[in-house]
Amino acid sequence: MISFRGAEAYLCEILNLDNLAMPNRKLTGKTAIITGGGSGIGRAISLLFAEEGASVHILELNTEVADTLVAEIRAFGGDATAHACDVSQQQAVLSVISGIGTVDILVNNAGIAHVGDLEHTTEADFDRIYTVNVKGAYNVLYAVVPLMKKQGGGAILNMASIAALVGITDRFAYSTSKGAIHAMTLSVARDYLHQGIRCNSISPARVHTPFVDGFIAKNYPGKEAEMFETLSKSQPIGRMAQPREIAAMALYLCSDEAGFITGNDYPVDGGFVTLNN
Ligand SMILES: NC(=O)c1ccc[n+]([C@@H]2O[C@H](COP(=O)([O-])OP(=O)(O)OC[C@H]3O[C@@H](n4cnc5c(N)ncnc54)[C@H](O)[C@@H]3O)[C@@H](O)[C@H]2O)c1
Repeated sequence: MISFRGAEAYLCEILNLDNLAMPNRKLTGKTAIITGGGSGIGRAISLLFAEEGASVHILELNTEVADTLVAEIRAFGGDATAHACDVSQQQAVLSVISGIGTVDILVNNAGIAHVGDLEHTTEADFDRIYTVNVKGAYNVLYAVVPLMKKQGGGAILNMASIAALVGITDRFAYSTSKGAIHAMTLSVARDYLHQGIRCNSISPARVHTPFVDGFIAKNYPGKEAEMFETLSKSQPIGRMAQPREIAAMALYLCSDEAGFITGNDYPVDGGFVTLNN
C-alpha cells in the first residue's frame, strides 16, 4: 500500500519538484541522528522524521533491521543512511559522527533493560545497563554537541522512561540508568542554553515494541498473553502506547515549533505518572 508521503514523493518526482515544494514538512533540510533507530520507538522516529523531510542517520548495533528500514524509507523517496555502531564504544561513535559532519537533531534512543531488584542485579548486569543506557548516551552527546555548537545550535532529545519518575518494581539498574538520562538532559540543557542547543527528554510508559515482547517472552514464558494484558492495564488509559505516538512527541520537540522548550521531560504515558491511584 502506498503511503500519503509515498504518493507525495512520487508526485514530486514526476512533476520534477524538490522538497521545498512540500511546505508542510517540519524537518526539511535537517540532518538527524537516531540511535537504536532500527527497531521499536527509534524505528517509528526514523520513519516519521524521514517523512517530514529530514536526512536520517541511524546508528545501530543491529545492522539488519537498520538496512531494512533504510530501504523502506528510500522506497517512499526519503533520505536515510544506516551506520553500524555500538553507542557504548566512544571511538566508534566519534568516527561515525565525524563522517556525518553536520547534525541538527540528535535522538539518543538506544537502550536495553534488565529486570531485577538490587539483590537480583549483578555487577555484570549493572555494568551492561550503565554502559549502553548511560555511557552510550554520553558518548553520542560528546560527539554531537561540539558540532552543534559550531553550527550555532541544534535539538537534542533523550529517551528516558517513567522509571525515572516513579518507583517501578524490579527495575533497579534500568531505573537508575533512566534517572541518569533525566539528569543528563538538565545538565546539557543548562550548559548549552546560550549556544542555541535545546535538550529535552521523553518518558514513555509501556510502548508496544520488540523491547516489550522480548521482555515478556524471556521473563514470562507460557504466560505471554496474560502478561501482555496486565502490562497494558498498568497504564490507566488501558493499553500500551504505539511507537508512532512517541514519535509524534519526538517530532514536535525536535522541530523549530518547539523553539521555546528546553530542559524538560515529557511523559507520554497514558496517565501512568499522575492517574495511577
Ligand atoms: N518500549 C517501552 O515500553 C519503553 C518505555 C520507556 C522507555 N523506553 C526506552 O525507549 C528506547 C527504545 O526502546 P524500544 O522499546 O524501542 O527498544 P527496542 O529494543 O525495540 O529498540 C532498541 C534498539 O536499540 C538498539 N541498540 C541496543 N543497544 C545498542 C547499542 N549499544 N548501540 C546501538 N544500538 C543499540 C537495538 O539494536 C534496537 O534496535 C530505550 O531507551 C528504552 O529504554 C522504552
